[in-house]
Amino acid sequence: MSRSIHEEKAVKQFKDTQLLTRLLSYAKPYWKMIVLCIALAFLIVVADLARPYIMKVVIDGHINGLNRPMLAAGAEQAESLKRYGRVVEWDGKSYVRLDEEDAAAAQASPPEGAEAVQIVRTDGQYWLIAGWLSSPQAAVQAAEADGRAAVLSEGRTFAAAPLDEAALAAFRAQDYAGFVRLGVLFLLTVIGAAALSYLQSNLLQYTGQTIIFNIRQQLFNHLSRMSMSYFDRNPVGRLVVRVTQDTESLNQLYSQVVVNLVKDVIVLVGIVAVMLHMSVELALLSFTVIPVLALLTFWYRRVVREAQRRTRTILSRLNAFLAENLSGIRITQLFIREERQREQFDYHNTAYYRAGMRGTVINSIFQPAIGMMGNLAIALLLWYGGVKVIDSSITFGIVYAFTHYVRQFFQPLMSLAEKYNQIQQAMVGAERIFDMLDEKPAIACSDNPKHLPERVRGEIRFEHVWFAYNEGEWVLKDVSFTIQPGQTVAFVGATGAGKSSIIQLINRFYDIQKGSIKLDGIDIRDIPLDELRRSISVVQQDVFLFTGDIASNIRLNDHEITDEQVREAARMVHMDDYVRSLPDGYATQLGERGINLSLGQRQLLSFARAIAHQPQILILDEATSNIDTETELIVQDALHNISQGRTTLIVAHRLSTIQHADQIVVMHKGKVREIGNHYQLIAQRGYYYRLYELQYKEQSPYRPAR
Ligand SMILES: Nc1ncnc2c1ncn2[C@@H]1O[C@H](COP(=O)(O)OP(=O)(O)OP(=O)(O)O)[C@@H](O)[C@H]1O
Ligand SMILES: [Mg+2]
Repeated sequence: MSRSIHEEKAVKQFKDTQLLTRLLSYAKPYWKMIVLCIALAFLIVVADLARPYIMKVVIDGHINGLNRPMLAAGAEQAESLKRYGRVVEWDGKSYVRLDEEDAAAAQASPPEGAEAVQIVRTDGQYWLIAGWLSSPQAAVQAAEADGRAAVLSEGRTFAAAPLDEAALAAFRAQDYAGFVRLGVLFLLTVIGAAALSYLQSNLLQYTGQTIIFNIRQQLFNHLSRMSMSYFDRNPVGRLVVRVTQDTESLNQLYSQVVVNLVKDVIVLVGIVAVMLHMSVELALLSFTVIPVLALLTFWYRRVVREAQRRTRTILSRLNAFLAENLSGIRITQLFIREERQREQFDYHNTAYYRAGMRGTVINSIFQPAIGMMGNLAIALLLWYGGVKVIDSSITFGIVYAFTHYVRQFFQPLMSLAEKYNQIQQAMVGAERIFDMLDEKPAIACSDNPKHLPERVRGEIRFEHVWFAYNEGEWVLKDVSFTIQPGQTVAFVGATGAGKSSIIQLINRFYDIQKGSIKLDGIDIRDIPLDELRRSISVVQQDVFLFTGDIASNIRLNDHEITDEQVREAARMVHMDDYVRSLPDGYATQLGERGINLSLGQRQLLSFARAIAHQPQILILDEATSNIDTETELIVQDALHNISQGRTTLIVAHRLSTIQHADQIVVMHKGKVREIGNHYQLIAQRGYYYRLYELQYKEQSPYRPAR
């Protein structure tokens, strides 16, 4: 017993690198777009990272700027101060603030003609003191020395001059200007980042959607070339999932993941660089949580892909089940199998739910865990940074900026989890898509095809044909016969004898295992498939109608068939009157969005289809089984006309319909039992004779054989 087709076979596992290379190859035509997106990402990152830095400058340079060490010089040396920054004129002297580096340098070797001064505050009074405190936070105390105002700090005495409101305003002026300048800059980074993000995400969506569009197209083309045995093995539901959902997961990859991943990496590298630049100690401190992170990620990586794979497989099963059961709903209801089907659905549904939940649980552990690591890093920063601010080795602005950077640092890490998730989904999707694309159509065109002549004669020859759908289970055994051009040949035999199989073989829906089938003397395996199939029309018992109108169902997108030919074909099978009576005539919609035809009408339409395509070979597989006797006679008549000069193969259970055939091939259990025309076979008194007798007796009261 072979495995149920619902058991989704384990998809071939590809190496990640293999998958990535192939995935990238789809993105290759759009590389310019992607590079542009990455460039945009870079700008966005710069804007994002600039913000905490701007805050740091606001805090250290302006809010706390008044207490910074300064250099003072006479008006004539003002020029030499300009290189340190903005020069403030007050009371006939020039002053400039120093940043940390300059202050340190000036401390080591005081510049010529300039003196160190600083503004300090005690008890609500601001002083300009001669010299620098050991740190801006050092405690100060107003005092008097030699009868003049002075400030004491850590045992040192500084000469001090009180500053009035006007003086303060002069020193503060650059801070107010700075707030405005930096505020505007801050705003610009926000607006800029937003605008760039908008642009980037649109470009990305466009790229992703286009790539996926191509992949879906390729998949569909591929599927439409697959042989019938492939569709025997793969339920429709599964294929639908591949073409729609699996490709969607790839869309995520192209439109979200790739570029954002690059962006995240830029963010991480950028933050590390900025952190190290601002404070090596604090940076190293923040990084201490990284090993734990690495472990977490490692664990996550391992479990999540397995979960994803499972989910996909189960979803596939669920879909296949659904598709099959919905198309078979009539049978389910007729046989009151709803309860049982519901149980089965419940089973698949539960499995899917469990698989989904598992993924969710994994994520709900991972995401907060990463978040916690981030907060842990911030806690460390507060503790250590706080101490360092008090002893003045680090400014408050830096600690403040660090808390932001740490947050920004962990954000991509957290979304990395999500992205990893998406990548996993995409990888699983890609595996399944490539697995499908790699499946070679079992019916391949020969390497050196032989072309059919412009006008096919229609000679069909089976030579010792052996065929099995599944290995070892022979359906046709050593079948040989020859159909001359233009002959009408009938196939009869019990159910399961192999009649339909013969017909599918002529179309090359399947390939035979032994022997050969020749059309006009050429092995059909050497004939290009489209040429072969173009010369054959098949009318089957169950007719498939496409969504669309009647005319297009007859024409089947072959625009060489004119409206007149469509009508002519319908007239030949006596459908024209009926179609004209419909409100929209030949433009009447069928199926879901339109009317439903009866089984017999479908068969007539299918006849019209075959006639309109004017094939050299016409095959009818129980094509008249659902047509009433009167119409059948008419159709037989039409058939008789169109089969003139055409090779016609007919499979029929009603022997009355095939008596006029040039040859009748009697099949029995996959073998040719008898061949001959009606009279020869009757004379043989063999299997055909017995069949005929049975039916004749049955039919004689109503309709004696012609
Ligand atoms: N797609 C398939 N996969 C596997 N086995 C198949 C497939 N189609 C048909 N068979 C098997 O091949 C054998 C011949 O089937 P076939 O359809 O050719 O019979 P038939 O003569 O057309 O019967 P009927 O008169 O009922 O249409 C049957 O035993 C059937 O089980
Ligand atoms: Mg059949």
